[in-house]
Amino acid sequence: MSETSRRRRTGDDRLPGDPSPEEQIHRMIRVDQAGEYGAARIYAGQLAVLGHGKSGPVIRQMAAQEQHHLEVFDGLVAERRVRPTVLQPLWHVAGFALGAATALIGEKAAMACTVAVEEVIDAHYAEQTERLGDDEADLRAIVEEFRADEIEHRDTGLREGAEEAPAYELLTGAIKAGSRLAIWLSTRI
Ligand SMILES: [Fe+2]
Ligand SMILES: [Fe+2]
Repeated sequence: MSETSRRRRTGDDRLPGDPSPEEQIHRMIRVDQAGEYGAARIYAGQLAVLGHGKSGPVIRQMAAQEQHHLEVFDGLVAERRVRPTVLQPLWHVAGFALGAATALIGEKAAMACTVAVEEVIDAHYAEQTERLGDDEADLRAIVEEFRADEIEHRDTGLREGAEEAPAYELLTGAIKAGSRLAIWLSTRI
């Protein structure tokens, strides 16, 4: 994203019928809070299975960063009076289940899960930084910072052998599809 094509104001390219700029920003905060919540639950599920294994420390470090991301978005939800997603109880269960299920397949499958989720979040955050204008420079900086962390998580997963997981393409394809659906839903409800 070059500086010249940066939007001056969030939503200034909006078409008739599109949500207002304020609603667009609320949607972004809502989905990001939901996503960070889901990510924290995925890592919690992984740690429940692999916490004492050799990848325990690596997973714990990523989990701590997700916790920080979540706390920042929890703060923004409160501060800007965003209605949180009503799907939080679903992400509570589904996130943990996804983390635990992939961890039960093995450490490499857990890492494949991380790669899949983080790739989707990377694209999601990249899209947001393009849409956020200079009127939302602080929020944009947060999204950019967290996006860098998510890319690092993906690289950690790859370094830890994600691609050697059984049925890697199938597994990551399914998790990416699920993550995109979760993003779509959490933006709206
Ligand atoms: Fe995160
Ligand atoms: Fe992450």
